[in-house]
This record gives sequence, C-alpha cells and structure tokens, in this order.
Amino acid sequence: MPRALFLDGPKGPAAIRDFDRDALPNGDVTIRVAYSSLNYKDGLAVTGKGKIVRGAFPFVPGIDLAGTVETSESPDFAPGDAVVLTGWGTGENRWGGFATHARASAKHLVRLPDGLSLFEAMALGTAGFTAMLAVLALDHAGYPDDAGDVLVTGASGGVGSVAVHLLARAGHRVVASSGKDPAYLKRLGAADVIGRDALGAGTHRPLEASRWGGAVDTVGGATLAAVLASMQTRTSVAACGNAQSPDLVTTVFPFILRGVNLLGIDSNTCPAPLRQQAWQALAERVDRDLLASLATTIRLDDVPRWAETITQGQVQGRVVVRVED
Ligand SMILES: NC(=O)c1ccc[n+]([C@@H]2O[C@H](COP(=O)([O-])OP(=O)(O)OC[C@H]3O[C@@H](n4cnc5c(N)ncnc54)[C@H](OP(=O)(O)O)[C@@H]3O)[C@@H](O)[C@H]2O)c1
Repeated sequence: MPRALFLDGPKGPAAIRDFDRDALPNGDVTIRVAYSSLNYKDGLAVTGKGKIVRGAFPFVPGIDLAGTVETSESPDFAPGDAVVLTGWGTGENRWGGFATHARASAKHLVRLPDGLSLFEAMALGTAGFTAMLAVLALDHAGYPDDAGDVLVTGASGGVGSVAVHLLARAGHRVVASSGKDPAYLKRLGAADVIGRDALGAGTHRPLEASRWGGAVDTVGGATLAAVLASMQTRTSVAACGNAQSPDLVTTVFPFILRGVNLLGIDSNTCPAPLRQQAWQALAERVDRDLLASLATTIRLDDVPRWAETITQGQVQGRVVVRVED
C-alpha cells in the first residue's frame, strides 16, 4: 500500500500513513518514488514557518522526487522509465515527493539523463537543478575577459554547494560566502571563503569597489544589495533565493553606471526544453563521487527534525530522503 508523510494542517502535525492510490492527484503518469530531497522550501512547509502549501490538508509535501514510471497514459513514458519531477507546484499545490507513489502530468516530467542514478538526481534535486539554471544563465550572459573572482553566497547550502562545484569545474576562481566550515567549501572547489557577515551586513553606499566577475546569490536581502554594489562592469548576478531576506533595498547605480545584470532564476516554472538541458548539463558536469560525499541520506520519519534544521540555516550540502524503509 502507498505510504506518505502527511501534513494535517498548516502548522502540522506531520505523520506517516498508508493511503489509497485513488487519493493521488490527477495526472497521466503514476510514479514509484525512490528518493525525494529536503530543500529550504520543504523546511518551511513541514515546520509551518512559511506559507508554502497551497493545497487542501491532509497534504503530502516534498518539492521534488525521482523514481520509475509505474503506469502511464502518455505516449512519452512507459512503465520502468526513470524520471525526475521538480517544480510545477509539486509539494506546494500538488502532492509531492515524501511518498512511495506520486502522480504527475507527463509534460512536467524529465527523463533521467544517462550518467545519473535516481539517488544522484535527488542528491542534486531542486537545489542542484536551480544551481545549474543559475550557472547556465551566467554563461549565457557572458563574463568579461578578465572576470576574476566569481562569488557564491549561502555557499554551504544546497543551491550554493552545487553552484560552487559547477563554477569551479568550469574553471572560474570561486569565492564562497558562508557562515560555515571553509574546509567543506574548499573541497567543493572554492579558491577562497569569506565570512557571511562580510556581505550580510549590507552596504550604505550605492557602489563599492568593483570586485566580482559574476555571482550566484541564494540569500537575497542586504547580502544581495552588497553584491550588486560590488560587481565589476558588465557582469551578472543570478538571484535564486531569500535565505537571509526577501527584501532588496538597492539603487539603480549598479545597473546604469556599471551595466550590471540581475538575472532572476525560477526553477518552478522553467520550460521543458531548458529543464532537459539543465539536467543533461548536470549529468555531464557534476563529479559523481563529490556529489555522493555532500549528500546526507535520511528516512521519511527523519524529515520533521531535518526540516527544523534546514530552516535554521544549519544544513551543509544536500539531504536526500529515501522514501522506502
Ligand atoms: N529560485 C528558485 O527556483 C529556487 C530553487 C531552490 C531554492 N531556492 C531558494 O534558494 C535559497 C537556498 O535554498 P537551499 O535549498 O540551498 O537552502 P539551504 O540548503 O538551507 O541553504 C541556504 C544557505 O543560506 C545561508 N543562510 C541561511 N540563513 C542565512 C541568513 N540569515 N543570512 C545569510 N545567509 C544565510 C546558509 O549558508 P552559509 O552558512 O554557507 O552562509 C544556508 O546554508 C532559499 O531561499 C530557497 O528558497 C530558490
């Protein structure tokens, strides 16, 4: 019988229960879930600290999953196909990945690229996919010839860790801004680590000394304002998150005096061709041994405790949820 972690209300409680597969939402593909993962958004949903769930309770959270197709009414997928699902409201307004079974629309599924296992897909998960989108956006915008340092903020988190690794592997000199262990970030490829507070206190000046040749920001708030003020001329910041704050108080000067681009990254509604491209790029660019080493595997009944931890900014790397006992 299918099993899932149910939230019984906006502030919990969370409980694991069997359920009838007729209760699964509409969709043309039913998936046997192997792994999900714990993202910052899941932490907010499970603890009730953020209004993430917009579906009726009881609700199955989990914003991503990887598994094999069990039944399909779509010509695009057949039983046994390995698939990944992220975004499109999964774990927000549609039942998500903290379950042994899920149902989705075929047009929202990505075929698992060769070179990635189901476990690795969730060791990357929404966070790794978002980091890849950010790196692709920076690549597309281009770097100046002598770009120098590329910055990643919130560097020890899920998005940040994968972004550090991808940028370093692409040959950039990566500076990681973090409140945690520099040794971990150096292992991922960071050339230098600066304390989170160096940028986190923000800036009162419209422009600072120009330093960064590109940046991936996962924390928003005063940090993002300080990053924008210290970008080199004609460079880009990929803005992905709000772990510090959703507020952004800045001036137009980085944009009109230095030609800085602020690139918004939205993994949720990312169109299918870019989705497939990003997953393919992850399969080609990620060091699989390193990926395994930055993942912690937990079980469904560990999720509430880890959800609390991730909302406190205490998680290093990625947390994979194995849904079967
Ligand atoms: N745009 C999208 O499609 C998309 C997709 C996925 C995630 N996100 C967002 O991206 C952000 C990161 O997600 P994640 O899954 O990587 O979360 P995470 O694993 O919790 O990482 C967030 C990191 O931010 C840093 N941080 C936490 N609190 C902070 C604070 N008060 N001030 C400054 N830094 C702080 C910490 O890193 P250090 O200790 O290293 O500083 C923490 O590890 C979240 O806001 C999430 O909602 C957006």
